[in-house]
Amino acid sequence: MTSVKETLRLFPDTTEKVTNTVFSTERVVQAPSIDLPNFLKPNTRLKMDGLKLLSHLPKESVPVAFLDPQYRGVLDKMNYGNEGKNREKHRCSLMQMPEELIGEFIRGIDGVLIPSGHLFLWMDKFHLCQGFKTWFDNTQLDIVDLIVWNKDRFGMGYRSRRVSEYCVVLQKHPRKAKGVWKIHNIRDVWLERTKTKDHPHQKPLGLQAELIAAVSNEGDYIIDPAAGSFSVMEAALLKNRNFIGCDLEG
Ligand SMILES: C[S@@+](CC[C@H](N)C(=O)[O-])C[C@H]1O[C@@H](n2cnc3c(N)ncnc32)[C@H](O)[C@@H]1O
Repeated sequence: MTSVKETLRLFPDTTEKVTNTVFSTERVVQAPSIDLPNFLKPNTRLKMDGLKLLSHLPKESVPVAFLDPQYRGVLDKMNYGNEGKNREKHRCSLMQMPEELIGEFIRGIDGVLIPSGHLFLWMDKFHLCQGFKTWFDNTQLDIVDLIVWNKDRFGMGYRSRRVSEYCVVLQKHPRKAKGVWKIHNIRDVWLERTKTKDHPHQKPLGLQAELIAAVSNEGDYIIDPAAGSFSVMEAALLKNRNFIGCDLEG
């Protein structure tokens, strides 16, 4: 576990700027500048395996990661019988991620996040209820918040009908908000309808852009190793951040 003292040694100019208030509107944690291999072009749609991308990123180099796994469990649970035939064709054609693979992605992300960096992990109802804490075994990540995304679209469900998804907020040690999280009007129930449907799992641009603005500075690198429609890239560019991310499908 990285101590506060160690963080200050790695990022010395984070020191005096933290004030005595509970909240801060300033982010004083700095990310280092990073050298990327030539084949990892920032701000483009890279077509590659996300684990390979993570293995080429420098350790403790990025303040923000998003992960939106292609959950195997969802298709297993939503077995209406016609998935991949009359409905859900694109969703069924995407590479599914078993839980062990999701754990590998999370451990890779843990390695490249700076101390006090954030992982925004998109989660479905099944995993949220059944538990996912073991995915963070042997990492320095702790759950610090949860945001419900109200998609404003009527989805499937045998009982209640789904309109929401969940974004679990994790922070790498040392865990703190002051001097790190600088926007304080993000609601934990977020209403946003996605405008285009480029991808069956496209996530809300507005929410992701606000989260990026809250926990990074301009010019910082934001990563997404399973980027789908690259909505995180769009959000990062909107906030003048850099993006590195990929998808198996490009
Ligand atoms: C749920 S979607 C991501 C959607 C994205 N958040 C968005 O807003 O569009 C998950 C993506 O993971 C990709 N994927 C699955 N296994 C992968 C791997 N090993 N490396 C990279 N991408 C992978 C799938 O192709 C799929 O597009």
